[in-house]
Amino acid sequence: MTRRRSILAVGALVLAPLVCARGGGAAAAQGKAAPAGGQATVSRAAFGQTADGTAVESFTLRNAHGIEVKAITLGAIITSVRVPDRAGRFDDIVLGYDDLAGYLRKPSYFGAVVGRYGNRIAKGRFTLDGKTYTLAINNGPNHLHGGVKGFDKVVWKGERASGAGAASVTFRYTSRDGEEGYPGTLEARVTYTLTDRDELSFEYAATTDKPTVVNLTQHSYFNLTGGRTDILGHQLTIDADRFTPVDATLIPTGQLAPVEGTPLDFRRATAIGARIGQDDAQLRNGGGYDHNFVINRRGEGLVHAARVVDPASGRTLDVQTTEPGVQFYTGNFLDGTITGKGGIVYKKRWALCLETQHFPDSPNQPTFPSTVLRPGSEYRSKTVLTFGVAR
Ligand code: BGC
Repeated sequence: MTRRRSILAVGALVLAPLVCARGGGAAAAQGKAAPAGGQATVSRAAFGQTADGTAVESFTLRNAHGIEVKAITLGAIITSVRVPDRAGRFDDIVLGYDDLAGYLRKPSYFGAVVGRYGNRIAKGRFTLDGKTYTLAINNGPNHLHGGVKGFDKVVWKGERASGAGAASVTFRYTSRDGEEGYPGTLEARVTYTLTDRDELSFEYAATTDKPTVVNLTQHSYFNLTGGRTDILGHQLTIDADRFTPVDATLIPTGQLAPVEGTPLDFRRATAIGARIGQDDAQLRNGGGYDHNFVINRRGEGLVHAARVVDPASGRTLDVQTTEPGVQFYTGNFLDGTITGKGGIVYKKRWALCLETQHFPDSPNQPTFPSTVLRPGSEYRSKTVLTFGVAR
């Protein structure tokens, strides 16, 4: 692995492919979540078909404490995350739909893996090794989240595995040379692992046969109240002294600006709603928070990037990552026109995203960490979420 991106020792978790789901192959084959009881489990079930007849499957990961994560092969979408509050009551803390039809009709990136390039590329153009590539313009004047049919809208292949105290599903997708304008055949995979330590990790890998750019991220929308109210009361900490200021089309100016003295200073836990309405040029550009933060780090490897606490339920979410940045987005474009799981209407600021990633528009920003992937190198990236409760 010659790539400058963090090289990960995945050796800590040895996951053996499953012949039948641990804790009850029969139950899993029928699609029932295997019972909790000291062992993480994974089961698989049908989840419908796309318009062209491609079957979509759903995988359910469950750990010893009853935490349950569901993901489907469409877009490697995480469709639900059920975690307890301080009274032990379980709620689903991510936005999404009850069925496949919802995801096909109005995807909105809910829970999906975004690629080949998460976030924006200015004017849908970049030059690599002297050749200019043209991508779809699907967000104002810019390219967003991999294009018209990005990785969130394709059907991946899923395979489950489990080992001591951990259960996982690996999704694989081959993106053809020229897909959405990007050069090179990209073999991409992501593994979601739920452990009995109440961690959910995302491990990404990709290889290419021609030089290309890659920036994969997970686009779950979190609401730690379980959808009872918006997220303005959530307390947020981001371990970032700097952010990448953006223009009115949300393209970075190229600067790394200090958060100090701005409403983007989340170095101490602060309610998301405390400053979101301030008259600030960056907040105006984003319609709220929609910014990439430069995570404080010395060297490579997993570092703590952010912590979210819902004071009402006590639920907490910690984010660690090997990535240099995290896009903090406050659901500014949700407007009450989407009705999600259980009939909940997704209003403005109903959820927050913490998309660990390389910085937006890196292919056009020579001073940002590179997102170029070349044949013979492997793209690797890891993010770990930890669920907890504050008493
Ligand atoms: C972007 C937002 C965009 C949203 C769509 C975020 O990653 O930063 O601007 O509207 O994704 O879900």
